[in-house]
Amino acid sequence: MCGITGYLGYRSAIQISIANLKRLEYRGYDSAGLAYMYNGKLQVLKAEGRIANLEQLTQQPPQEVGMAIAHTRWATHGPPCTANSHPHADCSGDIAVVHNGIIENYALLQTRLTEAGHTFQSETDTETIAHLIEEAMSLMPDADFAEQVRTALKHIEGSYAIAVLCKKYPDTIFVARQDSPLIIGHGEQETLIASDIPAVMQYTRRVTVLQDGDCAIITPQSVVITNHAGEIQNRTAMYVDWDDQSAEKGGFEHFMLKEIHEGPRTMRDTLRGRMSEAGTISLPDLPLTNAQWASYRNVTIIGCGTAYHAGFAARRMLEQLLQRQVDVQVASEFRYSSPILNQESLVILISQSGETADTLAAMRLAKQKGAATLGVVNVVGSSLAREADMRLITQAGPEIGVASTKAYLAQVAALQLLGLHMAASAHAPTAMLQQQMSSALPMLPALLERCLTLEPQVKELAAHLAHCSCFFFLGRGYDYATALEAALKLKEISYIHAEAYPAGEMKHGPLALVEPGVATVGLCTQKNLRDKMISNLKEVKARGGTVLVLQRETDVQPDCADYLLTLPDAPDFLMPIIAMLPLQLLAYHVALQRGCAIDQPRNLAKSVTVE
Ligand code: M6R
Repeated sequence: MCGITGYLGYRSAIQISIANLKRLEYRGYDSAGLAYMYNGKLQVLKAEGRIANLEQLTQQPPQEVGMAIAHTRWATHGPPCTANSHPHADCSGDIAVVHNGIIENYALLQTRLTEAGHTFQSETDTETIAHLIEEAMSLMPDADFAEQVRTALKHIEGSYAIAVLCKKYPDTIFVARQDSPLIIGHGEQETLIASDIPAVMQYTRRVTVLQDGDCAIITPQSVVITNHAGEIQNRTAMYVDWDDQSAEKGGFEHFMLKEIHEGPRTMRDTLRGRMSEAGTISLPDLPLTNAQWASYRNVTIIGCGTAYHAGFAARRMLEQLLQRQVDVQVASEFRYSSPILNQESLVILISQSGETADTLAAMRLAKQKGAATLGVVNVVGSSLAREADMRLITQAGPEIGVASTKAYLAQVAALQLLGLHMAASAHAPTAMLQQQMSSALPMLPALLERCLTLEPQVKELAAHLAHCSCFFFLGRGYDYATALEAALKLKEISYIHAEAYPAGEMKHGPLALVEPGVATVGLCTQKNLRDKMISNLKEVKARGGTVLVLQRETDVQPDCADYLLTLPDAPDFLMPIIAMLPLQLLAYHVALQRGCAIDQPRNLAKSVTVE
């Protein structure tokens, strides 16, 4: 997963493909690669690390190469290394594929293809595509290239944006898209492909955005877009008038906003391939036996900042599923404590970057004490992913904004999957809850889409609240975890003092701070705690505070609310994910109103690699 570029035209395809890859560099990557035809042979070059390393391999690129595809990889299957970087080739080395997305059934395909005599060179899911095309070409030698590739794609379950070169068709690039972006740029006597518009803007602003199910054959003479049945699809090219900066952000003003809008897609990727239609969870990366899962008598979750809050949000659900006590700790405290851990302990470490110094130190301490460690981590090749005994990748894709948004949603969902997996494996006596959760989780992407439609309303709320000097975020149960993360989001990007409290605690001190000009966001999404919440909010209202209530669309408006935001209805345990997205939007729009540097908040770094 990360960036795709390609070129077919009269200029140096190698130079342009690499230059355009650099325009996608902001998305983060761990290796880069390139394929092109030269002297009748398919050439594949790959390098770990920066694009500059790949460029060095092409010190004097043959100028006459007019067609190439290139890729920056952000590891999802298999660690970052040269062998795993794209393009991937078939056994003959005549077919090269670059791919963004996730092939869910790659393990099954790999086994079948290996049994049929194919040899795999990498640990990636992508390589299966090259071998499937090879297979289709040998099974249907008389079909044309497009039909052969489309036949290969029929075997694939999952998401993909791909570009394919084949020695037998030296002037053709095949591309296809399913749930992963891909665009075609139309220049004068040249065609460009990319996973994102900014990559081609230097050469053309006329762009066709492929839709799911689209395939295209690109030759010097034409671009033909079809569906999987080979029927022509008429797509209208659009004119892109973005400036370079907003192009990088997909037309959004900030990375943070772009990443909030990626919430639904993130959720699809996190759940993808891990839940069957019948609700069975499959986490092949966690190779423990049922007896091993059952042997963990105590579970501790550790993280920093947003990652810690994700652990907090999942804690109750894990406790209910496993019928065990689950402890949640801040990594910087845990690492200097004397934790009571042993071989019956499971320590779950959560981190987007996988490089947070305190989280890594906590993991090492847990290991020393004999606990099993499991990293819930977004960056595949990171220290946490490498050093933990087991890893569950959150699949949120690169996150660039310092304020963590989509990664949080993915962390909570991944922990819910993990909880279900552990409960089923350990035969926890919670079958009904497991059943209820498994049928609810797949609804999350659609529910988050609905949350995004609240943005105009959130923007208006932000205009009313941006002048407030202080914010309280109050909640009970799951809502308290959401309150913690919402307060962090607001304070880190808007610089407004924001505190989260379990609502019942207000009377024990903080209520003294409430006065006009103080905003209170009351989270009322938990059915059995709603009445208690409303009583607490009335106490705030009675002291002159401004109250914003977040509740389900099925609830009636309480009279203590100055403002109301209604959320899609869903089971309680999904509300920490559903309520968080509008609160991320709220933090964003308040910060925007206040003219703050949203993507680079003062004093903060994306990854805290020092203590
Ligand atoms: O990379 P990590 O998830 O380990 O980072 C932990 C925190 O530094 C991070 O979540 C931080 O709190 C967020 N950037 C806040 O939005």
